[in-house]
Amino acid sequence: MTKQTLSAEMTAKVDQLCSLGPVIPVLTIENVADAVPIAEALVEGGLPVLEVTLRTGNALKVIEAIAHSVPQAKVGAGTVIDPESFQRCIDSGSSFIVSPGITGELLDYGVNSDTIYLPGIQTVSELMEGIKRGYKRFKFFPAEISGGTATLKAFGGPFADIRFCPTGGIRVHTAADYLALANVMCVGGTWLTPDELIANKDWAGIMRLAKEAVSSATQSGL
Ligand code: 3PG
Repeated sequence: MTKQTLSAEMTAKVDQLCSLGPVIPVLTIENVADAVPIAEALVEGGLPVLEVTLRTGNALKVIEAIAHSVPQAKVGAGTVIDPESFQRCIDSGSSFIVSPGITGELLDYGVNSDTIYLPGIQTVSELMEGIKRGYKRFKFFPAEISGGTATLKAFGGPFADIRFCPTGGIRVHTAADYLALANVMCVGGTWLTPDELIANKDWAGIMRLAKEAVSSATQSGL
């Protein structure tokens, strides 16, 4: 039977996932061979929850490789914009799905999926569309240019029980400001895997960035 609203258990699953690391690295990986060493470096650096974006032709293979070879990682898919890709990502081993925005179709698909889904919102009206279907956890994107921490604080007034993973423009020196907010469960970003480090296969450098992110999050009190 088709469900109309998201269950409380699914919200609890999102909370559990987001409690595993204060930062979710948002990954765009071109070469499948780089997937496992990048994932291992991030896990080793203290960040086990990894979002692989569907922005390259190899994204599904990258997800498959990490899911298969890095069991300590929780690998999910990002930049998912329709139910067909949602399902393909699950079939490739994704533990969770993230979309940059929402559509009614995606929200309904997520309600009826056993896989964790974090829908992206930018505005109060989009938030209300999600809430109508039982969602209580959202990606806030693009965070910095949408008012950043000030907007999230304002969302906390009318929507006190809703929590967010902001992404978009967040860097190591601003992550702590977001993480200090009561309605922020974790933050996401691409800063942990700069193109140059990937090109140079500098996995130790990626691990250092992960450690630095963890230590700056810890200073925020999380
Ligand atoms: C995302 O998909 O969450 C963003 O691309 C992350 O934004 P950033 O590149 O500014 O970290």
